[in-house]
Amino acid sequence: MALVDVLAAVPSGSPEAAIAQGLDFGRLPRHVAVIMDGNGRWAAERHLPRVEGHRAGIESVRETVETSARLGLCVLTLYAFSVENWKRPVTEVSALMGLLRHYLRAELKTLLRNNIQFKVIGQMDRLGREVREELDAAMARTAANTGMVFNIALSYGGRAEIVDAARQAIARGLTPDQLDEETFASFLYTAGQPDPDLLIRTSGEMRVSNFLLWQIAYAEIWVTDTFWPDFRARHLLEAVADYQKRDRRYGAVSSDTVEALK
Ligand code: IPE
Ligand code: IPE
Ligand code: MG
Repeated sequence: MALVDVLAAVPSGSPEAAIAQGLDFGRLPRHVAVIMDGNGRWAAERHLPRVEGHRAGIESVRETVETSARLGLCVLTLYAFSVENWKRPVTEVSALMGLLRHYLRAELKTLLRNNIQFKVIGQMDRLGREVREELDAAMARTAANTGMVFNIALSYGGRAEIVDAARQAIARGLTPDQLDEETFASFLYTAGQPDPDLLIRTSGEMRVSNFLLWQIAYAEIWVTDTFWPDFRARHLLEAVADYQKRDRRYGAVSSDTVEALK
């Protein structure tokens, strides 16, 4: 997947085509994680019930998954439902679960066609049986795919994930000296995956809301005021273009400083 694949999916001469043409495909983020926020506010602006915002957000999910696969990302993680979101009214939670099932049924073929491996990260045992069965089926059907990994974070909490990992390490009988950062990360839901290089949040909120707390240690953060249902390929490409202008220092000095000192 590369520039030609992105250009095939966007109108020629469009702003998104121009952004794609300016990208350095040798320096793409390997993993992009997205906090999909603002569905409720999108609906409120239109005097619609909140669920209509969630429904409209499905098209943004579809476009983001497709564009990410066409770009050639290794991993895309979408935050769809947090452990804290269980506090929402039952009607909203069940509407969200219904939309999830609808999405899976409609998009499984596209995931298969695009060689995408679908994964759920989060406390799956808290989800209803029907949703779980559908998620399990989608994971099984796409397990042998070798293209992009698409993680959907459902009933997900970063702190819960870290506690789960610690519990597993203890259950496996690891001694304190056997536990280092790499070993610990192998007990997380994202074991074997690169950490997110780029974290996107929509709707302008400047917080991480318990998302991938361990994995985002050095992620570059990109926040847009756009509400999730309005998020399109153009926004994703803008975020990647902006990411490519960043100087990732990991606590060391900038590459310019290193050059100047030579
Ligand atoms: C994001 O939109 C979707 C979920 C968290 C499930 P919200 O529902 O949080 O929308 P706002 O933030 O209230 O606008
Ligand atoms: C974060 O959005 C969770 C998801 C996008 C699934 P929230 O709307 O739940 O986060 P807060 O409450 O604004 O922090
Ligand atoms: Mg929100």
